Amino acid sequence: MNKHIFFIPFTILLFISLISRPTSDMLYFVLLIFLFIVTYLIYKIYFLERQLETEQKAKLDIKQIKDSTVIAKQNFFNLANNIKSGVLSFNEFGHIIYTNKSFPKIFGFVTEENSRIVDISHNELKKIIVHAYGRESYVDNTLEIGSEHYRVTVNPIFTKSGEYTGGLLLATNVSSIIKTKVIQKAFIADVSHELKTPISSIKLANELLYKNENLSSEEREEIFEIVTKEITRTENLVKDILDLSKLDRLDFKLVLDNADLKDIISEAVSQLNVSALEKNIVIKDSSQSHVLRVDSARIKQVLLNLLKNAITYTDEGNIYVFTREVKRHVEIVVEDTGIGIKKEDLDLIFERFYRVDKNRSRKTGGSGLGLPICSEIISKHNGTLLVKSKLGKGSRFIITLPLDYIGEY
Ligand SMILES: Nc1ncnc2c1ncn2[C@@H]1O[C@H](COP(=O)(O)OP(=O)(O)OP(=O)(O)O)[C@@H](O)[C@H]1O
Ligand SMILES: [Mg+2]
Repeated sequence: MNKHIFFIPFTILLFISLISRPTSDMLYFVLLIFLFIVTYLIYKIYFLERQLETEQKAKLDIKQIKDSTVIAKQNFFNLANNIKSGVLSFNEFGHIIYTNKSFPKIFGFVTEENSRIVDISHNELKKIIVHAYGRESYVDNTLEIGSEHYRVTVNPIFTKSGEYTGGLLLATNVSSIIKTKVIQKAFIADVSHELKTPISSIKLANELLYKNENLSSEEREEIFEIVTKEITRTENLVKDILDLSKLDRLDFKLVLDNADLKDIISEAVSQLNVSALEKNIVIKDSSQSHVLRVDSARIKQVLLNLLKNAITYTDEGNIYVFTREVKRHVEIVVEDTGIGIKKEDLDLIFERFYRVDKNRSRKTGGSGLGLPICSEIISKHNGTLLVKSKLGKGSRFIITLPLDYIGEY
């Protein structure tokens, strides 16, 4: 309604009173009173209407805010319920207001809505939350739950005006990071240990040569031979360590090309034929032609490793190499009639520095990094490296490569 509307009756009556002179002062007075009452009423109706309009608008606004809060809450719940990390939120009174689906799976207990943080049954978790409650800074902890490790962070939550309204807890599984760190530490310890042995031998030989001037030329030659062997061993070990760390790098890329596996196998076999024959072993290669997208140098490196192992761990008999296609994959099989591997050791031989017989490997200069390197290379081709073996009968290493591998993007 137009706000000037209440001037209309006033103007009309003023006009009437002017053009038609009232018959009496009394009538004139009544007319005036009437005029004021009507004006007042119109004025009142107008403002009441406005007030009603404002109230309705405010109600609508509140409803909209409520609706958007419900939607925002729902969106948050949907989001939080779909993440693997555990989520818990509490308010400024220390009451739990929300936990997501993953939370009970991680901590093994269900929280009631509005239960208190001090009543949390998981002691370590309770300590973290109670410590974080009321704090205006971020709290960061690590929790061990069973065999898993979780990073538990609590973020304080503030309103727009900066008032503390509680906190949001996030528990993220960091076991793989911790495991990697443990593996790295163990690897450094293993490397140091592996390097210590040849260095000690070289140091001892050096002292012997220095302190004993009267050594015979045969004795000197023997010492030189030991030193040379240990230096070669150290050199190979360092080469393998460097190669593994290269393969471990996130930015490592295979040099891919279309190559025939038959050619790669034949190159590796001819490179080791002599050392096999020295042990009276024949490498029988019956591989077929399979053109695949591979890193030829790396596949050859794997074959050389497997063939060297087969020669080293075979005292008599032969080595067989063959290929076959199985369900969109090519298998390369390296089989020997050697000493074989115990069932308990079959998985372990792919672990870094693992050797079944440390004394035998020391004699042959093996460091236990050959198979882990092979495994890494094959898995980088999206393939697998498996072993089947019978103690005293021989071993069969099977490389499986996908026929349609096109490399990483
Ligand atoms: N063909 C095989 N027959 C029997 N045992 C094997 C064979 N291949 C590997 N092994 C066992 O697995 C262990 C690990 O092999 P791997 O090639 O990783 O190390 P390595 O040969 O000892 O040293 P290197 O780092 O020089 O290769 C060996 O020490 C050996 O005990
Ligand atoms: Mg080896």
